[in-house]
Amino acid sequence: MIDSSATQPVVVCPNPFYQIYEGAAFLAGAEPHFINTLPENHFKLDHGQLPDTVWSRTQLIYVCSPNNPTGSVMTLDDWRALFALSDRYGFVVASDECYSEIYFDEKNPPLGALDAAQQLGRTGFPRLVVLNSLSKRSNVPGLRSGFVAGNAQLLEKFLLYRTYHGSAMNPAAQAASAAAWGDEAHVIENRRLYAQKFSSAVALLSDVTTVRMPDASFYLWIKTPVSDTEFTKRLYQDYNVTVLPGSFLARDAHGVNPGKDFVRIALVTSPEECIEAMNRIKRCMETL
Ligand SMILES: Cc1ncc(COP(=O)(O)O)c(C=O)c1O
Repeated sequence: MIDSSATQPVVVCPNPFYQIYEGAAFLAGAEPHFINTLPENHFKLDHGQLPDTVWSRTQLIYVCSPNNPTGSVMTLDDWRALFALSDRYGFVVASDECYSEIYFDEKNPPLGALDAAQQLGRTGFPRLVVLNSLSKRSNVPGLRSGFVAGNAQLLEKFLLYRTYHGSAMNPAAQAASAAAWGDEAHVIENRRLYAQKFSSAVALLSDVTTVRMPDASFYLWIKTPVSDTEFTKRLYQDYNVTVLPGSFLARDAHGVNPGKDFVRIALVTSPEECIEAMNRIKRCMETL
């Protein structure tokens, strides 16, 4: 999807972000540019952070909604603004939606890019591809099962790419993943467990720090009382709990590392283990 023969092609990524976006940009011969997603801006993509000279070289933007790590979700207005920018500069929107099925209100799932495009009358999904995965909805990252959907011309090229670069899936994994995609009961149960884990985690941690409930996803993204790396080390060393330092998930851009002094806590264990881990995080915070 990147024409590396163009002058200095650009791929735009939110910052912090899932690190593969940056590696993929380099592999495609593009230069990554970052938009910092910040708490004071409700973690939204502030397009104004990049000048016209960068947008005019942009060939693709990654967006991630629900977001890893901030848990923010794009609204119809956010999608409208992004599509308008794509129309203006001609770049592809690659929408990573692998957390689309981890949300808290059964009646209010996150709005995906395809749905938003449809609502906005964007017939044929111009310059849009959506990526999704079984990994989070069914807790099976090992199966390596996912899909890409969107604009037909882009997908034609993607299919060619997939033919040479994708690996074939063995029949047992195919059968298991087909069963997981075909069943919703376990996904609903998974959401119920996440809601339960978030409610105990937020209640416990709110005693010691400010905790923001994400719009969706299975992460808490919280400010640390000392530096994110120091906090992560202490937590691991003294309390045997592993979290990810926010600065590792972000790059220095516009004079700051927007992940600095945040940690990402993934609530992926059982509810009992989760409560135990939150109690330990709480004890660690109390000592600081
Ligand atoms: C934002 C984001 N995108 C993509 C992936 C990759 O998922 P998969 O297991 O389908 O490769 C992850 C996994 O952690 C992720 O957090």
